This record gives sequence, structure tokens and C-alpha cells, in this order.
Amino acid sequence: MERTLIIVKPDGVQRGLTGEIIRRLETPGLRIVGMKFMQVSRELAAEHYKEHVGRPFYPGLLDYITSTPVVVMALEGPRAVDIARAVIGKTDPLDATPGTIRSDLALMKGRNLVHGSDSAGSAERELALWFRPEELISWQRDSERWLVE
Ligand code: RTP
Ligand code: MG
Repeated sequence: MERTLIIVKPDGVQRGLTGEIIRRLETPGLRIVGMKFMQVSRELAAEHYKEHVGRPFYPGLLDYITSTPVVVMALEGPRAVDIARAVIGKTDPLDATPGTIRSDLALMKGRNLVHGSDSAGSAERELALWFRPEELISWQRDSERWLVE
């Protein structure tokens, strides 16, 4: 089992796509183990996206993610990081495979609706950044044996 950090970005919340985005991630079998609605501080955004400091899009990225509230989730499942990235699609919606969230619902990189951790290491770092340990709840779905062999 693995956990990943998902953020429905401000454009996802503003466009009323929070439910649609959660549906697409939850339906394959990923299980919600943490979730909150929050306004992101500049400090948290800078820490989250620190790998992009100095890139031309960095100031705009911080303005975007801190603009209006987001929904942050921790999802758990086998290969959760890669499964979530597959459901989300490539960074630029034009490169994303049809059927993915970004291909189906977004137009450009800078308004691509959703974040998903890009590796197990990133997921661990990001989960610790966005959630206190007690906000993540371990539980089992009764249908688990029909999702995981
Ligand atoms: P994310 O971290 O949000 O899940 O997205 P990602 O891994 O697919 O892409 P990443 O390279 O980590 O970039 C983070 C976010 O920065 C914005 N971006 N804009 N205008 C640009 O060239 C550009 N490049 C990246 C996107 O919002 C991207 O999701
Ligand atoms: Mg990324």
C-alpha cells in the first residue's frame, strides 16, 4: 500500500469540478485517508513547489495555487502515486492522454486543475507538509478484496 498527495487546485474548485476529480481518482479504487478544504499560504506553496524556484513560471504558479481555496487529499492504494498520475495525465493537457483529467477537462499547463505527487519520495515529503499525522486515518473498505488481489 502507498499514499499520495492530491490537490484540487483553485481552478478545479472554482469550476465546480471537485466532485468530478475526486470521482475519477476514487472510482479505480484509491481510498481517501485524509481530506481538507483550505486557503494555501504563500509559505506552504513555496515549500511545496520549491523544486521549481527560479523557473519562469514559478511566480505565476505561486499566485495561482494561493489565489482561492483548494481541496487537499491523501489517497491510499497499491501503486497509488503512479495510478493517480495516470488518472491525472501529463502536465500540459495537450500532451495528456484522452480520458485523463487534464486532457478531458483542462486547456493549459498553468490551469491544469489537479496536483499529484510524482514519486513515493515526493509523496512522503508532501504528505508531511500538508497533513498532521493525526489527520491521516488508516481504515479498510469492506469491498477491498474486490479491488486488491
Ligand atoms: P503538479 O506538480 O502540479 O502535479 O504538476 P506536474 O508534476 O505535472 O508538473 P510540474 O513540472 O511539477 O509543475 C508544477 C506545476 O507548475 C505549472 N507549470 N507551468 N507554464 C509552464 O511552463 C508550467 N510548467 C509547469 C503547472 O501548473 C504544473 O502542474
Ligand atoms: Mg509536480
